[in-house]
Amino acid sequence: MLEINDVSYIVDGKPILEDISFEVGKGELLMVSGPSGSGKSTLLRIIGDQLSPTSGSIRFNGKSILEYRPEEYRQRVSYVFQTPTLFMHTVIEDLEFPYRIREMEPDLERIRELLPEVGLTEDILTKESRIISGGEKQRVALLRSLLIAPDILLLDEVTSSLDRENARMIEDTVKKLSARGITIIWVTHDPDQLELSDRVLGIREGKVVESLA
Ligand SMILES: Nc1ncnc2c1ncn2[C@@H]1O[C@H](COP(=O)(O)OP(=O)(O)OP(=O)(O)O)[C@@H](O)[C@H]1O
Ligand SMILES: [Mg+2]
Repeated sequence: MLEINDVSYIVDGKPILEDISFEVGKGELLMVSGPSGSGKSTLLRIIGDQLSPTSGSIRFNGKSILEYRPEEYRQRVSYVFQTPTLFMHTVIEDLEFPYRIREMEPDLERIRELLPEVGLTEDILTKESRIISGGEKQRVALLRSLLIAPDILLLDEVTSSLDRENARMIEDTVKKLSARGITIIWVTHDPDQLELSDRVLGIREGKVVESLA
């Protein structure tokens, strides 16, 4: 479903990613781990079409990502940033945003259904986006990424601000999504989370160091 072929990203002659290649199948859960600064977020940004690689290619469903309209690609490949970005005044406005940009009526029922999946309750909806906690922001951003069902979900350290209990809840939700056929690439520092999948891609200094299948 997703093929990464010899992807490199070079800034001012310095390689940040070097000849990265791997494949991910439909419904697969691939964990990505590696030291801080090794290039994990850069890799996710490239896969999420937020950044163009210096060389190499990415194919999604057999087609180069360059052949997709960016809006279509970003709808099918949803990316949850390491630092959650909420940009509207209230949480509900942030959650309505994916519908608004597509000129769709917000599906409030779906928003309410997903709240418990990320460990939130309805009272969050009317809160101001800038005052909620870091962990709440992470969960709102994750919920927002699930509203328009993506084919691929890219998660960048999405539980880093959460306590164990809430992190577990997110882990369960992610496992359920994967069982439903959503392909997931999950960057994490948490060694316990690596156990969630039998496939872990290790990255060190911009290179793949191990890929356990
Ligand atoms: N546009 C850029 N220009 C220069 N350096 C960059 C650029 N983007 C990323 N880097 C550098 O590339 C390296 C990899 O960054 P990246 O954010 O991908 O690391 P990471 O593995 O996600 O780290 P962390 O675990 O801390 O989130 C870092 O040293 C970073 O400073
Ligand atoms: Mg990172």
